[in-house]
Amino acid sequence: MIQKYVYGKPFPTEAVVEEVAQAAGVPVYGSIETGQGFCFTYQMEENDIVYGLGEANRGLNKRGYCYTSDCTDDPNHTEDKRSLYGAHNFIVVAGKKAFGLFFDYPSAITFDIGYTQADTLKVSCEGADLNLFVIDGESPYDIVKQFRKLIGRSYIPPRYAFGFGQSRWGYKTKEDFRKVVDGHRKNGVPLDMVYMDIDYMQNFKDFTLNEKNFPDFPEFVQEMKERNIRLIPIIDAGVKVEEGYDVYEEGVKNRYFCQREDGSDFVAAVWPGDTHFPDVLNEEARTWFGDKYRILTEQGIEGFWNDMNEPAIFYSQEGIAELKEVLKQFVANEDINSGITAGQMADDRKPGEAERDNAEEEKALAGAVSLWPLMGKIGGLANSKEDYRRFYHNTKAGRVRHDKVHNLFGCYMTRAAGEAFERIDPDKRFLMFSRSSYIGMHRYGGIWTGDNKSWWSHILLNLKMMPSLNMCGFLYTGADLGGFGADATRDLALRWLALGVFTPLMRNHAAQGTREQECYQFENIEDFRHVIGVRYRLIPYLYSEYMKAALNNDLYFKPLAFVYPEDTMALQVEDQMMLGNEIMIAPVYTQNAKGRYVYLPEEMKFVKFLPDGTVTEEVLGKGHHYVEIALNEVPLFIRSGKCIPVAEAAECVDALDTEHLTMLGYQGAAYDLYEDDGVSKEYKKPEEYRRLSM
Ligand code: GLC
Repeated sequence: MIQKYVYGKPFPTEAVVEEVAQAAGVPVYGSIETGQGFCFTYQMEENDIVYGLGEANRGLNKRGYCYTSDCTDDPNHTEDKRSLYGAHNFIVVAGKKAFGLFFDYPSAITFDIGYTQADTLKVSCEGADLNLFVIDGESPYDIVKQFRKLIGRSYIPPRYAFGFGQSRWGYKTKEDFRKVVDGHRKNGVPLDMVYMDIDYMQNFKDFTLNEKNFPDFPEFVQEMKERNIRLIPIIDAGVKVEEGYDVYEEGVKNRYFCQREDGSDFVAAVWPGDTHFPDVLNEEARTWFGDKYRILTEQGIEGFWNDMNEPAIFYSQEGIAELKEVLKQFVANEDINSGITAGQMADDRKPGEAERDNAEEEKALAGAVSLWPLMGKIGGLANSKEDYRRFYHNTKAGRVRHDKVHNLFGCYMTRAAGEAFERIDPDKRFLMFSRSSYIGMHRYGGIWTGDNKSWWSHILLNLKMMPSLNMCGFLYTGADLGGFGADATRDLALRWLALGVFTPLMRNHAAQGTREQECYQFENIEDFRHVIGVRYRLIPYLYSEYMKAALNNDLYFKPLAFVYPEDTMALQVEDQMMLGNEIMIAPVYTQNAKGRYVYLPEEMKFVKFLPDGTVTEEVLGKGHHYVEIALNEVPLFIRSGKCIPVAEAAECVDALDTEHLTMLGYQGAAYDLYEDDGVSKEYKKPEEYRRLSM
């Protein structure tokens, strides 16, 4: 049962698609204060678990820390960070009582989940205009499924998007892209997509192509397609300010960009230098911006990734003006300080050493003190809260200052694309994923989890985030495999790929300036060929489970506790996940480990895909086990009484032979395989699934 409580005058975020009548009275759980802003308080029991929050830091159980939904471009995902790129305000409190809460509020909102006081859950925000949905159900899993129905069906990508993708910030020319494709094809490493980062554009201008490097772009797209490769270009939120650039000129003429209070177009510096933000919260501007994707689809492009849409701001003109003021003061102070210290220095010449040291110290101190405001100003230029108060949106609900709806920008930019794809070709699926998001965006695209690092801890963070994202509707998700920032090592890349085998989005992506981490850059490429090959062997199953999850508002990744709610040990497991209805995954995420401990809530078949193409199977009983997993092996566990189909590896998704599948698992078991053409929107009904048995 879902109850909706309305406070003040909420902004219509359109996160929810089902009509829910406004409930009378107050929620049965917790208490609410609306005197100053909004605050929900609930006393948790000692063993309550709190799930949810989608793309958030730390564990699967969110207890013990404080998180703020405030979409932020921060590439340092260290443990202390409270905000990442997304705002997913859905949690489930699971204990003796279980209930779900969705705070539909588009500005910053804080979830203090036993951080200030161990047993107190406090959800608070500055404004008091929001819809609160309270969901009761039989179990946490049931509550999640009700929530997923409330927010509408998750995005369904084309089937090729389950293939492997290679990306790197820095590929510039056709030759760079051909080299990537050759590197994979020559070494037999499967590949379906190569991502185009900002360097394909002319001076980082959205919907343009570098004229020198990409003459005859449609022919190049075709050349790649003939090799079964899709090129997937990036689109950034900011539109470059440049006379003669049609997107800029049209936007200015039609008032489609976000404006300052005085009506002038707000200027934010991002990769291209000065840019304007398309007002994607304004329906007309959104349609206009969305239709620009056509410029590339007409040249054969079938998928995109939307970036910098928190929106990220390196600095604003106002920020620079303020910095100049602080700089002026600093220079003036420096002159005074150096005057004083020079005088002191003159006296110092006669007295002893000690006094001279004192003067030196004072001088250093005076300099440092006046440097702080300057350093602070420079450090605070990017993504400043102040800048988010400097521009407005023209929405259905009137003119709204950006900070009040900040968390919706990336969601609506991706909605612009999603709605445009419907107009461009209503029967075709396009690949789309975004960096920033709000719940509701899950209907238009997936997300990748942004600028992680080549750190072992980020493999584990990747794993823990997946079920939380699924709970919030985001099914097509994945992390930058191998890590975006910092230098990847061969073992880290292999272990991370072995997790990526199971994430719907499987993409290796890295920042410019980092060590090259394409599979063919490392020794013994055959190990990479094997691990990625296992992904392709599993695609019939993974795609089938994805489609079942999407079509039934279900989870692709689940915590063990959702499947084994009675098992108190399973409730605590955070480094193993259930995938679909048949398997459990338990990746290795520590360097130099030759295996790992796993907990089995029931008997399972431990399966390893070995590099020689064979598979080992071993039945393991309920309980704890240590399992050996070499760097070039891919492990999974098949649940008791179940089985899964496995194909032969292929160089691309379209080349997979799905007719001749072998079955792995328990004798006598059967599996209902979902299959369709992978591109149209004619989804199949359960009676059309293909029954396969062992
Ligand atoms: C941002 C993106 C990253 C991309 C880079 C350059 O940092 O998150 O994926 O490579 O911008 O476009």
